[in-house]
Amino acid sequence: MNPITEIRALPQVLSPSRRYDRLAVCLHWAVFLLVALAYAAIELKGSFAKGTPPRALAMTVHEWAGALVLVLAVPRLLWRLVRGAPAPEPGPRWMQRAGEAMHWVLYLFILAQPLLGLLALNAGGHLLALPSLGIEVPALVAADPALKDTVKDIHETLGTAFYLVIGLHAMASLFHHYMLGDNSLRRMWR
Ligand code: HEM
Ligand code: HEM
Repeated sequence: MNPITEIRALPQVLSPSRRYDRLAVCLHWAVFLLVALAYAAIELKGSFAKGTPPRALAMTVHEWAGALVLVLAVPRLLWRLVRGAPAPEPGPRWMQRAGEAMHWVLYLFILAQPLLGLLALNAGGHLLALPSLGIEVPALVAADPALKDTVKDIHETLGTAFYLVIGLHAMASLFHHYMLGDNSLRRMWR
């Protein structure tokens, strides 16, 4: 390997002030995996006949993956408010502002979407539960069919809209990494 190729092959070391810390990185990717699981489960649910065990299992996976998103989203947001974020990568001001706005929208989503799901479930007269393990999360609201319909509608609409928002966020980060060649993805990795 000639010296130039050798230098390019070295992993880029980013100073701590230019990257997200380990906890922020772990929480980001753990939340991503749980959101992906919640989406996959609810999509799968539709392919099973009503009243069958796999359909019920898919719904349980959806509810619990979604609930865990909330469990991680709260400390994640608190950590973000305490620690802040690294200064944005160099680039046009509008791009930095758009990136930051997108991040706050995503924070709002990972807090609001699971709460709305839980509200819809409780207002429909059900509890978030794992009976085989004796786990039952107390209801946030009493059964209320009108509230259930409204909240479920919002939950489903947001769920659909965020396919697009999350897709844009992921594409933007890949664009930064592969086309602009900056450190956006690297600093949210490892
Ligand atoms: C980040 C977390 C979550 C995401 C991304 C999400 C997304 C979705 C999506 C895309 C749908 C289907 C929309 C449609 O059919 O058009 C849905 C339905 C639903 N979700 Fe969630 N959800 C999340 C968390 C939760 C949680 C925590 C609960 C309850 C504990 C929940 C309960 C429900 C219920 C009851 C439905 C309606 C299912 C049906 O009647 O078919 N969701 N969710
Ligand atoms: C459920 C899916 C996702 C959610 C909710 C989410 C949420 C977020 C949030 C809230 C931030 C801001 C972090 C902060 O400043 O505190 C962020 C940053 C970031 N995300 Fe995601 N993300 C998701 C998926 C992805 C995917 C799939 C990718 C890559 C393909 C990605 C790449 C990044 C990168 C590179 C950053 C750092 C941007 C920067 O340098 O400022 N994210 N994400």
